[in-house]
Amino acid sequence: MSGTRGAALLLLLLATLAAAVMAGGEKVCDKGWECSGSRFCCNETIGDFFKAYQFEELFPKRNSDLAHAAGFWDYKAFITAAALFEPRGFGTTGGKEMGMMEVAAFLGHVGAKTSCGYNEAPDGETAWGLCYNHELSPSQSYCDDSNELYPCVEGVEYYGRGALPVYWNYNYGIVGKGIKQDLLNHPELLEQNATLAFEAAIWRWMTPMKRKQPSAHDVFVGNWKPTKKDTLSKRYPGFGATMNILYGDAICGKGSTDKMNFIISHYQHYLGLMGVGRERSEDNLDCSDQVAFNPSSESSDF
Ligand SMILES: *[C@@H]1O[C@H](CO)[C@@H](O)[C@H](O)[C@H]1NC(C)=O
Ligand SMILES: *[C@@H]1O[C@H](CO)[C@@H](O)[C@H](O)[C@H]1NC(C)=O
Repeated sequence: MSGTRGAALLLLLLATLAAAVMAGGEKVCDKGWECSGSRFCCNETIGDFFKAYQFEELFPKRNSDLAHAAGFWDYKAFITAAALFEPRGFGTTGGKEMGMMEVAAFLGHVGAKTSCGYNEAPDGETAWGLCYNHELSPSQSYCDDSNELYPCVEGVEYYGRGALPVYWNYNYGIVGKGIKQDLLNHPELLEQNATLAFEAAIWRWMTPMKRKQPSAHDVFVGNWKPTKKDTLSKRYPGFGATMNILYGDAICGKGSTDKMNFIISHYQHYLGLMGVGRERSEDNLDCSDQVAFNPSSESSDF
């Protein structure tokens, strides 16, 4: 090989390496899985550390006779939906253990919100997540006529559906825009397609309720630094703040309520089942004395 040719090859090699490692000043990886040059691509994906048998252990009763959505929810739907958000850091931020904790936290919310478990339920109240995929006896129409951006469609109902149930016309509008589905006209997609139901829920987890606010993902994985106002409002990074973002004062700032503890116990139960250990949940686990990021008097979220 001539000297010039060797040098040219070396340059080409270096250029390729550099392209693989640097993009926009950040380290990126192109190995392993489809994630279009994201800095999270070097890390393990959820499918690497969370397998189908673990999904079965977390949700053992979802196909039982007593469940209300038997045959609907499955591992593949979760993994397919999760893959869309992994390049943005869902389950891929901060290494494998943080990834497992984030999956336990996200699914802890999902399990609690779709549970038909109760205090003396067989195998315990936390064994009954993914029991529902929609609200069975809606107590109201969930149509806010005053919303001009996402007006109710004639004959369409906006009761709770999905993995982190969506209620109200405006929320179907917002989430639908987020996942590029016409949920305002077709909210039923969230009770017909488990992949879309998980996609909508993960989108909610990954997306701030309002501009300049952190997402549930951000407060959980440590992307968020509390301001002085946050610390005065007792808002610190951790699982408690994820409840604050998703449910606000419907759950938080009311002391140690059964409703709040029901969500926490799902998260801890899943941490244990996944082998991370429930004791890893300790820091800022609850939101009993947190002030809501978005007080219900001034916001229109879930
Ligand atoms: C990837 O995982 C490593 C540990 O395995 C972690 O230190 C790093 O922060 C992760 N990358 C990103 C972008 O979070
Ligand atoms: C569910 O929705 C996804 C995403 O739009 C689509 O790829 C899939 O085919 C749908 N599944 C069913 C059973 O309709």
